Amino acid sequence: MTTSGDGAATSLKVLTICGSLRRESYNRKLMRAAIELAPPGFQITESIRIDELPYLNEDVAHAGLPAPVQRINEQVRAADAVVFVTPEYNYGVPGVLKNVLDWITTPHPPHNALRFKPVGLMGASIGNFGTVRCQLALRQTFLFIESYVMPKPEIYLFRAQDKFDTQGRLTDEPARELLKAYWPALRKFAGMIATTPHGEGVHA
Ligand SMILES: Cc1cc2nc3c(=O)[nH]c(=O)nc-3n(C[C@H](O)[C@H](O)[C@H](O)COP(=O)(O)O)c2cc1C
Repeated sequence: MTTSGDGAATSLKVLTICGSLRRESYNRKLMRAAIELAPPGFQITESIRIDELPYLNEDVAHAGLPAPVQRINEQVRAADAVVFVTPEYNYGVPGVLKNVLDWITTPHPPHNALRFKPVGLMGASIGNFGTVRCQLALRQTFLFIESYVMPKPEIYLFRAQDKFDTQGRLTDEPARELLKAYWPALRKFAGMIATTPHGEGVHA
């Protein structure tokens, strides 16, 4: 978080990472709607495409982190908070997104760019549960990573195929209102984390 001279918060830097590679991805549309609906005071950046990262191979990691891995690590480090917007595949986390989390935590899992980072989750699916199970699985993974996942508001966009117009604009009013409320909640949550002692040394 950048602060003005009087200490007041001026701008929260947020990185968004989309877990779908699909050209017409509902999750990317949801992510873009969320960015568009953010109030002033947020600097939101989309991450590099996650398919730029190779599949995780610890041998490669030990020889030197590939450039896209270094880049996404830098993007995560530079952010005050990271928001993942992802589909659910087979009740779980898409492999391409899990690969990102595994790279960020390689080669030294406890010492990674996501450790102690405030994290937000959002998801869209064409089914009736809007990625609930994927988000629960992600919360479990973030326990080990030691990211702080914002408990609420929860964003589960179900039946996403009914919620965008042909231009890709989110037309569902309740969802738009929820997205507007998301950002102030994330700012408050990130502010709490920024002033929290993190228990360094637990892994020593
Ligand atoms: C391999 C695979 C598994 C899927 N599993 C689920 C699932 O467990 N739950 C669900 O709600 N949708 C599931 N879907 C459907 C997704 O919700 C749908 O493909 C959605 O559009 C993906 O998000 P995207 O539009 O951002 O790419 C699955 C789709 C695929 C291709």
